[in-house]
Amino acid sequence: MFNTVDRKNTQSIKWDQTKKEDCIPFTIADSDYASPKPVIDALNERVNHGVFGYTYFDDDYYNIIISFVKRHYYYEITANQITTTMGVVGSLYYAIKMLDDKSEGIIIQTPVYNMFYGLIEKANKKVIENKLIEEDGYYRMDFDNLEYLFSQGHKIMILCNPHNPVGRVYKDDELKKLVLLAKKYDVYLLSDEIHADIILNDNKFISLMKYYDLYENMMVFIAPSKTFNIAGLHISLVISKNDDLMASYKKITDEGYFKNPSLLSITALKAAYKDCDKWMALQNQHLSKNYQIIKDYFHEKHPQVILSQVEGTYLVWLDMNYLKISCEEATKELMNHHISVGKGTIYSPHSEGYFRLNFACSTEQLKEGLKRLSETIKILEENTTK
Ligand SMILES: Cc1ncc(COP(=O)(O)O)c(C=O)c1O
Repeated sequence: MFNTVDRKNTQSIKWDQTKKEDCIPFTIADSDYASPKPVIDALNERVNHGVFGYTYFDDDYYNIIISFVKRHYYYEITANQITTTMGVVGSLYYAIKMLDDKSEGIIIQTPVYNMFYGLIEKANKKVIENKLIEEDGYYRMDFDNLEYLFSQGHKIMILCNPHNPVGRVYKDDELKKLVLLAKKYDVYLLSDEIHADIILNDNKFISLMKYYDLYENMMVFIAPSKTFNIAGLHISLVISKNDDLMASYKKITDEGYFKNPSLLSITALKAAYKDCDKWMALQNQHLSKNYQIIKDYFHEKHPQVILSQVEGTYLVWLDMNYLKISCEEATKELMNHHISVGKGTIYSPHSEGYFRLNFACSTEQLKEGLKRLSETIKILEENTTK
């Protein structure tokens, strides 16, 4: 389990976008090990059936999702509070379209998942940044500035929880404070919880939907794609207990024909949400171990690099500003050592000198990557002292 699978020449964006031979990418957020066996078995069975006609969502499908949400996120929903879509980014785009007349600005907390910038722009809205506050690699929401932005009339916010790229899993007091603030200013909260199942050590994930009793104008966005490494199958779920919001959402996604994931993605979701709880727990153990290896490695070899304190996701955010080098220059040097990581500047225009490293891979691959990273950093350190 969690062994390296050779993904070269498999149309993997992560592995095939770099033309350099022998380059190990720690970039795009998918995993370099296989999906759980029940998912692969269910897909094989469906493929062997040999017919791939039009498909509907049966009761079993909804019951599986309802049960998964209850088991893992501890809230109850009914089938009509779920809309199935074909990706979280597209789902957020449609939510913003649905709320078109509510706000010109969309608040995001930066640095954050790069596609948020693009989807806000495509929805003809303005990115409004609430920069996260950092202390020793621990990132927090800036509530004072958030209240200021809310008071300025920005009525839509995308929350990323767990937060890509800094790995925060927001705690009860933070989420409650956010919800009460949103209520005070009538702000719609769109909570991207795609990384909800990837929780390290003894951290606990709390969904925003747990606060529905306090405030109703919110929607959550989940998917099996990150957890079970099936992003290429394109299936995601939008959940809201607010019936009016859900009705409007269904209407707008109907108009955009955005509710027809493939038969194979439906098959994979069912198996993932029904038969893989144990695998999920093992994956979290594996990722916690990988993160510890990264921490120990940097502590020993390059203590000046500031690592984000990762509570969830398989992404760590590295502050390498002491090297006084741009992301672009560092990337060239990294390439010389046959390794690529995410450039900080794609997650925020202010993140020059930061990098994102995806550690959803075998421990062996991670160690090889750290070796190459360290060789690169040594050269860059020598250059800064010259
Ligand atoms: C926070 C976040 N949201 C959404 C996505 C992408 O979701 P999808 O592929 O379902 O559009 C990612 C992928 O990395 C992500 O990190």
